[in-house]
Amino acid sequence: MQQLLPALLLLILTRLPVAIEDLVAFDVQDYGAVGDGITDDTQAFADAWEATCRKKAAGLPTMFIPGEKKFLVSPIIFTGPCMASNVLVQVEGTLVAPDSPSTWNGIIDASLWIQFKSVDGLRLAGSGSGRFDGRGYNWWRQSCKLDPRKGCTSLAPTEVKFVQCNDLAVSNLQFINSPQTHILIMDSDKVYITNLSITAPGKSPNTDGIHIHASRHVYIQDTIIGTGDDCISIGDRTSDIVVTQITCGPGHGIR
Ligand SMILES: *[C@@H]1O[C@H](CO)[C@@H](O)[C@H](O)[C@H]1NC(C)=O
Repeated sequence: MQQLLPALLLLILTRLPVAIEDLVAFDVQDYGAVGDGITDDTQAFADAWEATCRKKAAGLPTMFIPGEKKFLVSPIIFTGPCMASNVLVQVEGTLVAPDSPSTWNGIIDASLWIQFKSVDGLRLAGSGSGRFDGRGYNWWRQSCKLDPRKGCTSLAPTEVKFVQCNDLAVSNLQFINSPQTHILIMDSDKVYITNLSITAPGKSPNTDGIHIHASRHVYIQDTIIGTGDDCISIGDRTSDIVVTQITCGPGHGIR
């Protein structure tokens, strides 16, 4: 039972709480996203999020990111709280980060690319092809860890940050090539992570898989992590962290 409980909870919580026909979809393309990998679709994502999060809807509000497309998204914060008690962000396509670190120059907090902040009841899920591609190569090249010289950087964006997201589920998605940590869970309670694939080259600097900080009741399961740093790292002010069925490597293990 001890073993079964988190698995059972995962199953219940990561399943959509309503039938497909009750989804109220806000497709980023309806808000102007082009999805050619070149056009900056950040504003469309911001607008689709506003609709998903702030509009009153009868079913499960869903921000939909369609498959077979590549959406170039600049650093962005999706902020709650939302009107509904659950919000689904369904990712079938690929989100790609700007490939030049200069995009962040002085304007934006260099520690973030995609961030969810104060969104309770968030479901971030795909069903096969959904992917976050941080295109970290140019960050790695200027990393102080690899080559400490003038102008090197020690802070690079985390691919996806969840800050103050209670009752969070993330499932069936791929995270690749983050400039630094791939997934950061911070100040969050009840987090269910299942069936992710997180990969970056073994030599990429500081590309932790999942970092957990100041969070409680975090369950991570059925996940493949192969990166240049820790697969899963657990910081301070954390409790009840359950990690099962993880494939780790390359990387520095779980610590
Ligand atoms: C796990 O996630 C992948 C996508 O990364 C998906 O193709 C696969 O169907 C998922 N498996 C389950 C059991 O949901």
